[in-house]
Order: sequence, then C-alpha cells, then structure tokens
Amino acid sequence: MALAKTDAAGGSGLLPEVLRFSTSLHLDEQLLFEDLLGSMAHVTMLGRKQVIPAADAKVIRDGLKALWTRAKAGQLQLPDEEDVHMAVEVELGRTIGAPAALLHSARSRNDQVATDLRLHVRQATGQGVVALCGFIDELVARAKQDADIILPSYTHRQRAQPVSAAYWLLSYASAFLRDAQTFTFALEQSDVLPLGVGAISGTSLDIDRSITRELLGFSAMTLNGMDTVGDRDFAMDYLYGVARFFLHASRLSTDVIDFTTSEFGFATLTDDISMGSSMMPQKKNPDVFELLRGKTGRAVGNLMGLLMTVKGLPGGYNRDLQEDRAPLLETGPLFAQSLSVLRLALPRVKLNKERCRAAVEEGFTQATDLAEALVKKGMPFRKAYQAVGSLVRRCQEAKLTLSQATEAFALQVDPAFDAATLAALDATNAVARKQSFGGTGPQSVQRQAEALTSAASILRHRAEKVPTLEALFHKLDVAPI
Ligand code: ARG
Repeated sequence: MALAKTDAAGGSGLLPEVLRFSTSLHLDEQLLFEDLLGSMAHVTMLGRKQVIPAADAKVIRDGLKALWTRAKAGQLQLPDEEDVHMAVEVELGRTIGAPAALLHSARSRNDQVATDLRLHVRQATGQGVVALCGFIDELVARAKQDADIILPSYTHRQRAQPVSAAYWLLSYASAFLRDAQTFTFALEQSDVLPLGVGAISGTSLDIDRSITRELLGFSAMTLNGMDTVGDRDFAMDYLYGVARFFLHASRLSTDVIDFTTSEFGFATLTDDISMGSSMMPQKKNPDVFELLRGKTGRAVGNLMGLLMTVKGLPGGYNRDLQEDRAPLLETGPLFAQSLSVLRLALPRVKLNKERCRAAVEEGFTQATDLAEALVKKGMPFRKAYQAVGSLVRRCQEAKLTLSQATEAFALQVDPAFDAATLAALDATNAVARKQSFGGTGPQSVQRQAEALTSAASILRHRAEKVPTLEALFHKLDVAPI
C-alpha cells in the first residue's frame, strides 16, 4: 500500500519506510466521525465570522456531510494519508475541489486531534457511566433477592464475621459507584473545547471559539493553547477510571472463583457461563471470571502506556502524543465488552444458602458478636474478648460449633454467659444486630441500597446529557452559517 503525504502536510520527499513508521491512519480512522464533526463545526464558525466566504463554508460543510453519509453506509475508503485529518482533507478536495483548501484556516492538526480525542472520551465516559449505573442498579436488585443468605466475610482470607449476601454485593456496588464517579470526572475533564488554539499559540484570524464550543456542545473552552495541544490528562483520567473498574471487577471475580471451588462450595455457575476442560470431563470452570481478572492487566497496561508517553515531554505539542491512540482506542471496547459480560455472568452465579450458612458456623464467625453481647451487659471489651476466646478454644476441643455451645457449657468458661448473650450466636441475629451506619444489619443495608440508587441516578442523569455524535451531526447539518 502506497502511503501518501500531501504537500499540505509538509512535503512529499519522505522515504516510504518513514511514512509507514509515522502513520496513525490505521488507528485514528476510528476517530473519523469525531473528525468530521470537528470540521463541520469549525467551518460553520469560519463562515459565520466571514473568515472564509459563507458560500464556500456551506459547500465545505455539505462535502463533509457527504463523507459522513458515505462512511455510515460503509462506502468511504479513506485515502492512504498519514492520519485521519489529512485523509479527510484530501478526500474532501477530491469531492468538492478548490473550496476544500479553505477548511484548515485558523486550525492545526494539533488542536484538531485534541478535539477528536475529547469528543471520543466524552462519549465513551458518558456511555460508561450509564452502563456502570445500570450495573449498580442490578447489584442493588440482586441484593434484595439474596438478602436472607448469610455467608462469612473474610479478612486475611480467613473467615471473619457473618454478613448478608446483600452486604457482600453492595460492597462491590459501592466500589463501582466510585468508578462511575471517576468516569464522570473524566467526562467533565474532556468536556472542554480545544479547537481554535491552532498549532500552539492561537491565531490572528478573527475566529470565535465560543461558536465552535456551542456547536459541539462543550461546556467550556480550554484556556491556554500551549497547554491545550500537549494535554492528554482527560484521556489519562478515563484510562484510570477503566483500570480501576477492572481492579474492582478482578476482586469480585476472585471472590466468585473462590466461592465456586469445592473447597468453598458457596456458589455454582449455570451451565451457559461455565466452561469445560478438554481433558477432565468433570470440570465446570469459571473462565469468564478468570478472563475478566486477566484483562485487568491490559487495562492497567494501557493507563501505564499513556502515562509514560507523556512523561518528560517538553511543553506544547510533540509527535510522541500520537502514541496515545493505541492505549486509548483499545480501552473503550475492552471496557464495554467486559462490563457487559460481567452483567450477564453475575446473575448466573447462584449462591448456595445452606453451604454459606454452614461456613459461618464452622468458622466461629459469631465470636465478636458474642463478645459485644457481653459488653452490652457491662463487661469491658478486652475481658469479653478473653472470655469468648476461651469459649472458642473449649468448643474446638469438644468439636462443637459456637452455636452448639449450651448455656451450661458456656457457664463453665465464664459466669457472665447466659441464654440472652448466647442468642448473639445465631448468625441471623448476629447480622441483624449490626445496625451501625455502614454495617451489615438489614436496615443499614437498606440505607446503603437507597444511597447507591440515588447516587447512581444523579450520575446517569449527567451522563445522559452528553450529546451523541449522531445528535451533533444533525445539529451541525442545519446550523446557520
Ligand atoms: N497524527 C498527529 C497526531 O495524532 C496529528 C498531529 C500532527 N501534528 C503535527 N504537527 N505533525 O498527533
């Protein structure tokens, strides 16, 4: 394939190997629609401000519109230029002729690529927030369904205290809510128009960036051109949000993977998400969750890659920044596909109520609750801790679970034990009594569910205000010049 570099982009005497090395078209052609919108807005502004004749602006915008329509129909083969911006300009020239030469007035590819990227990240973060909030709602609904299942919580991967399955699910919903908040931050960071700062220092032509801002639905304009053309912070914020989502998904995945082992036995996977082994006929493997955990490496790697690309660059634009494309463009589909598979798979993880309950009993997990029952009777916590510790040891020697300890048995250990305190050993009671804010008690969990739902709905509302690329196209199509 013969790559071209037009004179417009700085001469044609380049070695073909160098052109092949430096091209980004294979990646940034994914930004074609963003690029067309940026150009449609720019030329509308140029026409309105009479930087170029309004009639030419109209011809150019119609030409861009025709490229959009052809691309949507899968009938646009971009010419082999060094990037999507040049490819669009060259193709436009082929279709409308001389007026195409007016389009690049008061613009550089430096502010153009920043615009494409911001439009892209704004849309991706907006869609990400909506998807994450949908997932949070699903987790809240599942928490209601599984509210009467009690399982051990873990510290140091040792059984710790009994909790409701609702509480376990909402612990992850809380983490995913923070991810939705981080996405929203990245959305706000990207929602700022760079176009109009030119190559680095603005333009002497009489442009009005606020017109372009309004046409592209950005909330604000970047303040300083030198900063603008070298700034990829909004993209880092997005990749950070995605990387952190994956960290959370990987932890949830490990819980699920552990829970489905025969060692835990807390959960089983339905057949439609479990994979077999090519050798061992008995296997029902949790590959989906292992893959979610495995893909975390790629998400974190993409963030690291972008951070390293920007590290140590001198101020202003540097071509190094073109290397933002690979990590950024890989991340969107990686995130979207992984979240949607997680949303499919999690409802197919069925908790085994009896086995969860048995693990609570076997693990002496109600020990702290018993100590707190003694505290309620006036015993200092440290003394209660020792008394319950002795009871646990006696139970272990006698091969009893804590709830199998009778009042008479407990009284031999400490005279403070009585039927009322021993009632704390019932796992349902143990859970129900933890009504402190943030605790696993049912009213506390109910409060958490409500808080998560309302926070998610506020974030979703903001994200839904992001105009789609399609909506921007229709707005630009009819915007007066
Ligand atoms: N393909 C370039 C990029 O993605 C466009 C900007 C090029 N600017 C330049 N001065 N060569 O970063």
